[in-house]
Amino acid sequence: MTDGSALDLKSFIRDIPDFPKPGILFRDITPLLASPPAFKESIRRLCEPFADSKVDAIVAAEARGFIFAAPMAVQLGAAFVPVRKPGKLPFDTHSFHYELEYGSDTLEIHVDGLKSGQRVLVVDDLLATGGTVGACCRLIERTGATVVGCAFAIELVALGGVKTLAPYSSFSLLKY
Ligand code: PRP
Ligand code: ADE
Repeated sequence: MTDGSALDLKSFIRDIPDFPKPGILFRDITPLLASPPAFKESIRRLCEPFADSKVDAIVAAEARGFIFAAPMAVQLGAAFVPVRKPGKLPFDTHSFHYELEYGSDTLEIHVDGLKSGQRVLVVDDLLATGGTVGACCRLIERTGATVVGCAFAIELVALGGVKTLAPYSSFSLLKY
C-alpha cells in the first residue's frame, strides 16, 4: 500500500484571487481531489484523530462537505447523514434558518436521520465564519444526538470559525 504520510497536502490547494467576488481568495480543493494519493491521504489524516471517538454518524452539508464526509464515514464505519438546502430532502425535516455575513440561508436534515444519543462528527471541506457547520450543529441538537466534534480539510483562521463553533471542538487539516 502507498504511504502518503510525507505528502505536502497544501501543495494540492490552488489559490484563486477574486473568486467568486473581488477581495475573496478562493482555496480551490479540486487539484487535491484530482490526485488519488493526496485525496486518500487527506481522508486518512482527517479520520486519524477520531479513530477512538466511537463516531456513530457523520453529518455534512451540501455540496463540498459531502466530498470529504462520505469517504470518512466509510473509513470510520459510521453512517453518512446529509444536510441539504430546502426542498431537496424527500422525507420530513428539521429546518434551521441562519444569518450569513450578507443575507441568510436555511439548511435541513431528515427527522429520522439521527437517533437520540448517537455520537456525531460534523465534516466540511472548509471552515470560514462557522455559519454552515454551526447550523449543522443546531440541526443535530434538535434530533437529540450529540456532536462529538467538527473536522475540516481547510480552516481560514482569521475568520474566527473555531470560536463561533465553541464549545464544540474543531480539527483542521490545513490552516491558512
Ligand atoms: C462553502 C464551504 C463551507 C462554507 C464555509 O460552502 O464548502 O460549507 O462555505 O463557510 P462558513 O464557515 O462561513 O459557513 P458554499 O456555501 O460555498 O457551498 P458549496 O459547498 O455548495 O460550494
Ligand atoms: N468558502 C468560504 N470562503 C471560502 C474560500 N475563501 N475559499 C473556498 N471556499 C470558501
